[in-house]
Amino acid sequence: MITLLSHLSYVAITTPDVEASVDFYVNRVGLTVVDRIDGAVYLRCWGDYYAYSVVVVPGDEPALDTMAWRTSSAEALEGAAKRIEAAGAAGEWVEVPHIGRAYRFTGPWGHSMTLHWDVTRHHDSANDVASIYPDRPSRRSPIAGAPRQLDHVTVATSDVDAFAAWYNDVLGFRIMARTVLDEAPISVFSVLTTNEKSHDLGVVLDGSSRAGRINHYAFWVDTREEVLIAADVLMENGVPIEYGPSIHGIGEQVFLYYREPSSLRIELNTGGYRNYVPDWTPNTWKPSLGSNNFYRNGAMPMSMTESFPAADGPSATEEGVPEEIRAALLNPYAEQGRG
Ligand SMILES: [Fe+2]
Repeated sequence: MITLLSHLSYVAITTPDVEASVDFYVNRVGLTVVDRIDGAVYLRCWGDYYAYSVVVVPGDEPALDTMAWRTSSAEALEGAAKRIEAAGAAGEWVEVPHIGRAYRFTGPWGHSMTLHWDVTRHHDSANDVASIYPDRPSRRSPIAGAPRQLDHVTVATSDVDAFAAWYNDVLGFRIMARTVLDEAPISVFSVLTTNEKSHDLGVVLDGSSRAGRINHYAFWVDTREEVLIAADVLMENGVPIEYGPSIHGIGEQVFLYYREPSSLRIELNTGGYRNYVPDWTPNTWKPSLGSNNFYRNGAMPMSMTESFPAADGPSATEEGVPEEIRAALLNPYAEQGRG
């Protein structure tokens, strides 16, 4: 197994109203603004180790701007760039604020990925948000349920298995599991990781003609109780909860999905397994086994199949997921009389 990458370091998303999104991330999610450069706003969770983990970029639609991984060494960065170019997905070297030199490329299914070794470490050692504990980059957020760290990103693609195979072959992502429909041999979801988490990269099936879409990205909280408190506080502040709190079968994480003002979906996560097995064989799930819902007792809202940007432009409602696939995903427990 090659170990080129170490972990997801930041996600950059576009939004039509930067200030509305930033206000939400600060006051509802509990992030902190660390910089503003050329209209983009850089934010961090209180426990993120580097300068930032989220970048809000002005754009016409909610979309993925880029998703960034830190490599395992300076040499690994050079090696990764060579492997990407050998695989036919040439990118370019760029300068990233508070990071420095990075390699950015667009993968075969249209997703921008940025790889870097250089970072700026965050440590509030001498200001009013410094933690009293040496291990913490800054003081725990006073916002209820504020995430400790960025956790994962889930993108959409027209071929889930081929996507997973490419990122496994070229960059060494371990494929942990996938979901194949009960009714047909169609892969609708897969989870990949660069470390001991169940996933730092997820992928869902996308039947639309738009490449490079994102389904959601996720933050980490330490405890299930914080997920429940966050859900409570969101409800009390008029933020609709799209799905959860509940537990995914795949990964066994507690989840909570809601939307930021651009309509982009974000998630709070906690729990789940740790897996260090270097030659792991991916498991295959069926929706009826509870891949999405551990308890096999609740239908997933149809809105969860929306990815971003919308399938046919800013005003589209069609999400590019074939109707029979959508039906199979949404209520896989119907035969058990528990839909
Ligand atoms: Fe997720």
